[in-house]
Amino acid sequence: MDILKAFDEYESTALLAIEAATSAEQLEQVRIEFLGQKKGKLRDLQSLIGKASKEEKPAVGKRFNEVRTSVADRLEAQAASVTCEAVDLEPSFDVTLPGTVPQLGTLHPVTKTIMRFRELMGRFGFEVVEGPELEDERHNFEALNIPNDHPARDPLDNFYIATAKSTSGGPVLLRSQTSTVQIRTMENQPPPIRIVSLGRVYRPDTIDRTHSCMFHQMEGLMVDRNVTMAQLKTLLTLFAHSFLGPDVKIRFRPSFFPFTEPSVEVDMKWGDSWMEIGGAGMVDPNVFRAVGYDPEEVTGFAFGLGIERFCMKHFEVDDIRRFYENDVRFLNQL
Ligand code: PHE
Repeated sequence: MDILKAFDEYESTALLAIEAATSAEQLEQVRIEFLGQKKGKLRDLQSLIGKASKEEKPAVGKRFNEVRTSVADRLEAQAASVTCEAVDLEPSFDVTLPGTVPQLGTLHPVTKTIMRFRELMGRFGFEVVEGPELEDERHNFEALNIPNDHPARDPLDNFYIATAKSTSGGPVLLRSQTSTVQIRTMENQPPPIRIVSLGRVYRPDTIDRTHSCMFHQMEGLMVDRNVTMAQLKTLLTLFAHSFLGPDVKIRFRPSFFPFTEPSVEVDMKWGDSWMEIGGAGMVDPNVFRAVGYDPEEVTGFAFGLGIERFCMKHFEVDDIRRFYENDVRFLNQL
């Protein structure tokens, strides 16, 4: 029967054409040619069905459907393998080679120490506050009971900024201590107060193993009724033990600061010697007066700790200068 022969021929040419198509575009051309709805070869084939005799019709119809599905199925299979091949291109690099490991930075040891200090003091109920590094003489000296003729105010012992003036027209300097933040805090809020402030301070000291012209301090201030020296000593000892471990030895030596009375210096044992780690004391009544607090009503303690000294002990670093040399071979070890 001619009609069935035409179907066979259609099928074999279509399958060959599909086989020969190696790209998605070529395959699409083949689809349009053989299966296209508008004027493809399938339509010609369909019109042949009408020409079949009544007896032939069922067989012809059946075969038509067979041919159509077989071509469509093969086309689909070929489409899948064509796209697979496109993805499966020769790799342009050796996937088994080890990759380039990115250099990840770490937090600076001083930054880590600051974060830990904040956390520990938070547990003792102290809130963290900030203060400016550029200060006027009221906050760095006067309100802290440091009179004009005090040696600590010597321009040679401070970084005065010759080209700037404070809002009230006075001289400004890089703060030499974080005690400035005690004043700023008390000026802005009534007691009770329980704060710490961590940040940089600047002193034109001769630089050596334990001194730098810029370093970090943690200032602490607690003001309330009936605050005692015993509480201060307990807090500082607990703090040092929390940070450095229970074995570290802490001692308090009588000392003098214009803004505390009595005053102590705090040392820690390192090897066979003692290293100073800060100053502390009971807030001097003159400081309370300077910020408008009534010294008959409130008491308080204050302390200032050198953050680098703690950091040095914690990481067993014996020279403060290592922290500022930006040598990654050193920093990577901490
Ligand atoms: N500000 C003092 C210093 O820099 C430390 C200190 C702070 C002492 C608070 C007593 C009270 O050395």
